[in-house]
Amino acid sequence: LIASFQQKVLAGRRVMITAGPTFEPIDPVRGITNLSSGKMGYAIARAAREAGADVTLVSGPVSLPTPHGVRRIDVLTAQQMHDAVMAGVTGQHVFIGVAAVADWRVVNASDQKLKKTPDGAPPALEFAQNADILASVAATVSLSGWPYCVGFAAESEQLEAYGAAKREKKGIPLLVGNIGPQTFGQDDNTIILFDEHGHVLLERADKLTLARQLVSEIGKRLEQRSL
Ligand code: CTP
Ligand code: CA
Repeated sequence: LIASFQQKVLAGRRVMITAGPTFEPIDPVRGITNLSSGKMGYAIARAAREAGADVTLVSGPVSLPTPHGVRRIDVLTAQQMHDAVMAGVTGQHVFIGVAAVADWRVVNASDQKLKKTPDGAPPALEFAQNADILASVAATVSLSGWPYCVGFAAESEQLEAYGAAKREKKGIPLLVGNIGPQTFGQDDNTIILFDEHGHVLLERADKLTLARQLVSEIGKRLEQRSL
C-alpha cells in the first residue's frame, strides 16, 4: 500500500535500451553472432516501465516476449542497431546500452550462399570495425547532460580495474560490470556499478531483481540533476 503512494522513480522519463546480440551476415543463410540471450536488457526494460518510464527497446535477435507496455524495435546487425538508436535518441532522458554489439562486421558478405570449393580453401572473410553505439550516443549529450548514458561491460578478469577504466574511456556517468563470462543466458547475475565515486556491488540475484535495483540507482542519480 505504501509503495503504491510512492512516486515512481522514472515517471515522465523517456528511456532507450539496447539488448541482445547482433547478427552479422556472411551470406544469406549464415552469420556471426554471440551468446547474449537479451535477458538482462529485457529485464531492465520491464523494470524501467514498472518505474513509470516511456521505454523504447532496440533489440537484436532474441527469443523473448516484449515486456508489457514497452515499444520494441527489432534489428539484426550492429549498423541497423546504430541507425535505429540514432533515429530515436533525441529527447531521451536515459540511454542504457545492454546489447552485446558485434565489434566487427563482414565487409565482403556474399549475396549468394557460399559453396565449398574443390581445393578445400575456406572463404576469405574480411572484417571492419562497427561504430560504437554507446559512444555515438554519448557524443550527442547536451550541455545539460541528457541523455544520462549507462554502459555495460562483461570482462573476463580484473573487472574492478577494467570497469573503472572503461567508464572513463567511454565518457559515461555509469557503467555496469557483469561478473564473469558465464553471465550470458543465465537467469542470475552479479553486477558492479561504477560511477564517479567508485564502485558498488549488487549481490547475486535474478536478473529482474538486479534490473529493479539498477533502475532505482539510475532514478536516484537523475534526481540529483535538474530537468
Ligand atoms: N557497445 C556499443 N557499440 C559497440 C560496441 C559496444 O554500444 N559497437 C556498448 C555495449 O552495449 C556496452 C559497452 O559498449 O554497453 C561496452 O561494450 P564492450 O564490448 O565491453 O566494450 P568495447 O568498447 O566494445 O571494448 P572491447 O570489446 O574491446 O573490450
Ligand atoms: Ca566489444
